[in-house]
Amino acid sequence: MSSYHIKNLEEYFQVYRKSIREPENFWQEIAEEHFVWRKKWDNVLSWDFSKPEVKWFENAKLNITENCIDRHLLTKGDKTAIIWEPNDTEEKAVKISYRELHEKVNQFANVLKANGIEKGDRVCIYLPMIPELTYAVLACARIGAIHSVVFAGFSSSALATRTNDADCKLLITSDGSFRGDKTIDLKKIVDKALEECPGVQTVLVAKRTGGEVNMKEGRDKWLQPLMEESSTKCDPEIMDAEDPLFILYTSGSTGTPKGMLHTTAGYMVYSAYTFKNIFNYQNDDVYWCTADIGWITGHSYIVYGPLLNGATTVMFEGVPSYPDFGRFWEIVEKHKINQFYTAPTAIRALAKRNLEFVEKYDLSSLKVLGTVGEPINEEAWHWYNDNIGKNKSPIVDTWWQTETGGIMISPIPFATPTKPTFATLPFPGIQPALMDENGQELEGHQVDGRLCIKFPWPSMARTIWGNHDRYRDTYFSAFKDKYFTGDGALRDEVGYYRITGRVDDVIIVSGHNLGTAPIEDAINEHPAVAESAIVGFPHDVKGNALYGFVILKEVGETRKKENLIKEINQQIADKIGPIAKPDKIQFVDGLPKTRSGKIMRRILRKIASKDTSNLGDTSTLLNPEVVQDIIHGAL
Ligand code: WT7
Repeated sequence: MSSYHIKNLEEYFQVYRKSIREPENFWQEIAEEHFVWRKKWDNVLSWDFSKPEVKWFENAKLNITENCIDRHLLTKGDKTAIIWEPNDTEEKAVKISYRELHEKVNQFANVLKANGIEKGDRVCIYLPMIPELTYAVLACARIGAIHSVVFAGFSSSALATRTNDADCKLLITSDGSFRGDKTIDLKKIVDKALEECPGVQTVLVAKRTGGEVNMKEGRDKWLQPLMEESSTKCDPEIMDAEDPLFILYTSGSTGTPKGMLHTTAGYMVYSAYTFKNIFNYQNDDVYWCTADIGWITGHSYIVYGPLLNGATTVMFEGVPSYPDFGRFWEIVEKHKINQFYTAPTAIRALAKRNLEFVEKYDLSSLKVLGTVGEPINEEAWHWYNDNIGKNKSPIVDTWWQTETGGIMISPIPFATPTKPTFATLPFPGIQPALMDENGQELEGHQVDGRLCIKFPWPSMARTIWGNHDRYRDTYFSAFKDKYFTGDGALRDEVGYYRITGRVDDVIIVSGHNLGTAPIEDAINEHPAVAESAIVGFPHDVKGNALYGFVILKEVGETRKKENLIKEINQQIADKIGPIAKPDKIQFVDGLPKTRSGKIMRRILRKIASKDTSNLGDTSTLLNPEVVQDIIHGAL
């Protein structure tokens, strides 16, 4: 018997040990007991990181949507699979049962088929957070088409690049989208993108805003009428375990975006098992992840992981600031959310506001809180813990990547004691290693290392679509026979991991390695500071010096700027050491961010280096307007 649901620390260690000693038995038991297969595998795992090649559950046959939907129908047909919460509070939330989900996905799958989509074809999905987005993803999986979801905040040129790279035959979009008080004409963006995408033969358009659109004769079709006239029955395509399930793009430190390819069985087993344990999901719980399905977080922990567990998952169309900064907490109260999963950047933004936005609402349903996407600073962690979790809901700080498909390092709530800023322990089956620059593995307590994974796990990306060499070079060449994450990490005395940030963000000052995250942490702990970013810039004597960009809180700051700088420096000196004090601190109104909320340090580095002639591509920024302001104020 495998332990599918880990309940305490002792059990975690038992399960973990087994997963390392007998990985094949371990995963085989989970796969056998918790999923439906049309045919079992011949071999659990074969792998060779030098090629690299990894195969899980070889020759098994299955369809992931049968596992997400069909198998729940007998016992949970009327259970709510999806709660859709619209952008506008005036509009009613929609509850979609497993039975309804089954019908919609099948109808959508039949529309895809009728439009010539077959197993292995790529379908681009460019939709806002509306139910059709989940239907589209699952409809592709139903018929074996490979979905490539592009976040509907990307520009037309970003959409075109991704559509062409994956050679998509069909694209699914909507007339428009609502985000806060804005209405965005998505179809116009698509029309512009498709001028450069000759391979797209059909565009299915979901109606959402009712805005005016141009329908191109022979290419563009309204989605909903086609669904309505389609059969609600569609037999699932029987897929091989290693058949591709989806492509999802992630930006590299250089070059074009990388289309990470995920395959069927391993991704299914891992996303389901991690979801169950890391969110401690119980039968009648209502789970909400605030991410967009355009990111891996949404793929694994809004759609696949929850539905594979027969859970109720919330899809939120809007933004945390609309109609006001209490929206998240209003939704928590309204739907009695039990598990809440968000990004540190959102927490920091909300922590800047008056606590009244939180205190107005009943948050007593919450049992588990999660964070993802970047290191969470200590101040934000405590704000989240005190004000949202009321010191009773464990915070799972989940470290993972688009490439890993599922959460890799994270506490298991009620089992792993949490520690602010630490992602804590590897999930069962995950074998992390810290490496030094010379490729030696570092054992025990370490203050600085490069984070690698030395053994395959079921949901790892198998390749970069169309560029296996790049996959090998990016992830498997820095350290022999290991997957290199690109992140730096430390390990404390008890074996807890803390992710310190991208290794490319490490700054060497006078020969000392400094991670940006701990310095930012120290700055953010100053009561006047909302958020900060540290970058390096060239310095005659030190090699590099530090430049800090600091956003102050909005309310009631009367201290002089010079005094604030002194205090911030003192705080850094106290926390890390005088070596970590920035040479320059500039107060700014905003930081340039990617649409997934990450600070674009590349731009800040250029500004800090007074090298602003060519800032590179800023088109994918969430807030390109802040860049000029920062340049004007630069020191
Ligand atoms: C990078 C991956 C995984 C879903 C969202 C982002 C950083 C992610 C954490 C965390 C510190 C984190 C890493 C990683 N990251 N989670 N809990 N603590 N850093 O996916 O866009 O592929 O980014 O995000 O640097 O490598 P992604």
